[in-house]
Amino acid sequence: MIEIELAQASDRPAIEALLEASGLPTDGFELALGTAVVAREEGRIVGCAAVEPYGSVGLLRSACVAPPFRGLGLGSRLVDRAEAVAAARGVAELFLLTETAAAWFARRGYEPGAREAAPAALLGSPEFTGACPVSAALFRMRLVRAAPVA
Ligand SMILES: CC(C)(COP(=O)(O)OP(=O)(O)OC[C@H]1O[C@@H](n2cnc3c(N)ncnc32)[C@H](O)[C@@H]1OP(=O)(O)O)[C@@H](O)C(=O)NCCC(=O)NCCS
Repeated sequence: MIEIELAQASDRPAIEALLEASGLPTDGFELALGTAVVAREEGRIVGCAAVEPYGSVGLLRSACVAPPFRGLGLGSRLVDRAEAVAAARGVAELFLLTETAAAWFARRGYEPGAREAAPAALLGSPEFTGACPVSAALFRMRLVRAAPVA
């Protein structure tokens, strides 16, 4: 059985290893560790998603599922949970940069936008300043605040 739960600080090495294995950046991941969620199967991390919060806006990042577990709805569950955690902490709008999963995020309701239109706080984040190439597409979505989850 796969459980989705908030990440612990001690999970960081395993999360970063998962991101690296999938070719995703780890730069600045510590900024998102406090809101990160993980999928665990028998104690092993097989997926993650996180939000770097910048006041009322956030950068959704590090959505990743280990290859054997893809296509089972796990990525959707992880992003749902990361969105809920961010909303409960006061984030009203999420932005993300992706080179690999634009269609996946569009199916989730994210809308494409111009990278330059991102809030100033995000433009200074590690993903914007270096980890994600200029070719990465920007998506955004407003969050509806639900009951607190964490
Ligand atoms: C993107 C990712 C998190 C999706 O996780 P997942 O658990 O496979 O997703 P789900 O099971 O919730 O969704 C599966 C559906 O999305 C589609 N899908 C999966 N990855 C996709 C992608 N990169 N682009 C477009 N569609 C994708 C599948 O074909 C499937 O479609 P179907 O429902 O019509 O069969 C996972 O593929 C992954 O870790 N990819 C590598 C890392 C990455 O690119 N992350 C995004 C960083 S911004």
